[in-house]
Amino acid sequence: MKVTISEVGKYVGQEVTIGAWLDNKRSSGKIAFLQLRDGTGFIQGVIVKSEVEETIFQKAKSLSQETSLFVTGIVQEDSRSSFGYELSVSNLEVIREATDYPITPKKHGTEFLMDHRHLWLRSRRQHAVMKIRNEIIQATYEFFQSQGFVKIDPPILTGSAPEGTTELFHTKYFDEEAFLSQSGQLYMEAAAMALGKVFSFGPTFRAEKSKTRRHLIEFWMIEPEMAFYQFEDSLKVQEEYVAFIVQSVLKNCSLELERLGRDTTQLEKVVAPFPRITYDEAIQFLHEQGFDDIEWGADFGAPHETAIADHFDQPVFITHYPTKIKPFYMQPDPEREDVVLCADMIAPEGYGEIIGGSERIHDIELMKKRIEEHHLPLEAYEWYLDISRFGAVPHSGFGLGLERTVAWISGVEHVRETIPFPRLLNRLYP
Ligand code: 4AD
Ligand code: MG
Repeated sequence: MKVTISEVGKYVGQEVTIGAWLDNKRSSGKIAFLQLRDGTGFIQGVIVKSEVEETIFQKAKSLSQETSLFVTGIVQEDSRSSFGYELSVSNLEVIREATDYPITPKKHGTEFLMDHRHLWLRSRRQHAVMKIRNEIIQATYEFFQSQGFVKIDPPILTGSAPEGTTELFHTKYFDEEAFLSQSGQLYMEAAAMALGKVFSFGPTFRAEKSKTRRHLIEFWMIEPEMAFYQFEDSLKVQEEYVAFIVQSVLKNCSLELERLGRDTTQLEKVVAPFPRITYDEAIQFLHEQGFDDIEWGADFGAPHETAIADHFDQPVFITHYPTKIKPFYMQPDPEREDVVLCADMIAPEGYGEIIGGSERIHDIELMKKRIEEHHLPLEAYEWYLDISRFGAVPHSGFGLGLERTVAWISGVEHVRETIPFPRLLNRLYP
C-alpha cells in the first residue's frame, strides 16, 4: 500500500510503500539508517543487513542525498523519536539518483542558502516554518469565517495609495500610470459598506529601502474591516484573533515548534486581553528607560518597540499616536485632535509591529481636508470619498503582516525564512 509519511500512524505493524527523498543517512557494516522525507513529514528507515537481500543493503549504503526512491517496509512504533514511528525497510527502488546536491548537512552561509532557496525549502527547518505559516493561514480563515466575516479580494493593480506615495512600485497600465497595492484597505472599507464585516488575505508591495530582519518588499497581509465598529471594538477583534492563531499553532504544530527549538512557554502566555499603553505613556516610559533619542511626535524605531514589548512580555497595543505621523484616513481622537484613534500591536521578544490599525474618518469634509494635507490627488480618491458621501458610518479595521507573525510564532530571527520565495532589497532570485 502506498502511503505518505503523515499517514504511517494508521499502519503500525503493516507493510507500506513510501515515495521519498533521502535527506541524510548513516550506516555501519551491519545496519543503515535512512532519513527520509516526502514533503508530508520525516521518518527514519532502518535496514538490517542480515534481514534483506545483499543487493538492497548495498544499494541503501550507496544512496546519495536527495535521491528519490520508493521505500517499502513495516511501520514500527518508535518512542525515541518525537514523530513516534520508524520504518523497518525490506526493499527500496531508486526513482532518480541525485548527485552533488548543493546543500549538504554541513553549515552554509545565509547568502548561499538564499541563492538556493528553491532547494533550501526542502530542509527540516524550512519545512517547519512553512507548516506554521500554513497553520496561521488556516486559523485566520477559521477565525474570521466563524465570526461572520466575508473574504474579499482587493485588486493588486491600483491607482490609490493608502499608506503614502513614497514606497510605491510603479507600473504601466496600458497608457495609464498604476502601481502595485501597498494595502487593500481602501477597497476593504468600500466592501465593508457592502458586506458589513470583511477580511482580505493577499500580497502587498512596498518599495522600501529597508534592509532589516522585519522588512520584505513583497509581503502578505490580512486586512479585516468592520462597519459600525469603533476603535475599542476593533482592538477586541485583534487580540482575540492573535490569541486564536497562537493557540492553533500550539495545538496543531507541536512537532514543528519542537524542531525549531521554540520556547513554547512564551506562546502559552498569549491570552486576550492584551496590555495597552498610549503613545504618550510610551514616550514617558522610554525616557525613564534612558532613551534620550526620542521626542514626542517621532515614530518609534525597533529598539523602542523592543523595550516596550520586553516590559510587557505579551503582545501589547500602543495607542493614540500623533496625527502627523499617521496616514490620512485615521480618525482623530474627538477629545484631542493631535492624536488619532489608532493602535499598533507589538509582538514580544523583539519581533516588532505585527498589526497596524485604526478607526477611519467618516466625515466627508474632514476626509477631503486630510487627503489634501497629505498632497494626494483628490481625483484618484473620488470613489473612496463616496464611502463617506453615502450613508457614512463609523468603521474600523487593521492589517496583520503575515511574515512578521510567522517569524514571531516560529521564533525565527528574520522574515526571509517565513515566506517561500522572499523578495528583499537586492534579491529577486530565485
Ligand atoms: O502598518 P501598515 O503599513 O498598515 C497598513 O497598511 C494599513 N493600511 C492596514 C489596515 O489598517 N488595513 O502595515 C500593516 C502590517 C504591519 O504591522 C506589519 O506587520 C506588516 O503589515 N508590514 C510589513 N511586513 C513585512 N515587510 C514590510 N515591509 C512590512 N510593512 C508592513
Ligand atoms: Mg504600521
